[in-house]
Amino acid sequence: MKSLIFYYSWLGKTKSVAEALGRLSGSEIRRVEEVEIRRGISGFLMATFQALNGFQSELRPYNSDLTGYDRVFIGSPVWCGNPAPAVTAFLRETELKGKKIIIFCTHVTSKSLPALQKMENIIKERGGQIQGSFSIRSTRKNLSNLQEVVRIAAEKYL
Ligand SMILES: Cc1cc2nc3c(=O)[nH]c(=O)nc-3n(C[C@H](O)[C@H](O)[C@H](O)COP(=O)(O)O)c2cc1C
Repeated sequence: MKSLIFYYSWLGKTKSVAEALGRLSGSEIRRVEEVEIRRGISGFLMATFQALNGFQSELRPYNSDLTGYDRVFIGSPVWCGNPAPAVTAFLRETELKGKKIIIFCTHVTSKSLPALQKMENIIKERGGQIQGSFSIRSTRKNLSNLQEVVRIAAEKYL
């Protein structure tokens, strides 16, 4: 089965999860990037405001061609209980109709379910088929043993 992983990551944790997932599943990986560069406290405050209000950020051009892929993984950090604005934009702008999709989130404290639910709602609205989801707490302990943590969390999809 040919799989593709899309992810957005501000601080590198979702990137690490996507890379571990890529190694485990043999998938190609594509990073989703914003035009705006987020930095420091103002970047954090803006991220909070935008996530809370369900904003979509402007994305840098990316390869959205999903031809030939049976399955697509899409990953986001949880921001204020929501997907990151880049992922909201990605889900609204990419043609996902008929694709089998697995979503994942990284988060620290609160539950990832509301963010995953929001991602799922957009995907379904746009005709994608949700095959499943998983989330990874980006604690120091998990990050130090990430390959194994991802293997267990994503076991059903490998
Ligand atoms: C603006 C902002 C809001 C966040 N909100 C939450 C949250 O509501 N719940 C949570 O568990 N973690 C929250 N976090 C922590 C991130 O979800 C977590 O550190 C994630 O793994 C970061 O991914 P990244 O390194 O790929 O950017 C937030 C982080 C940022 C920057």
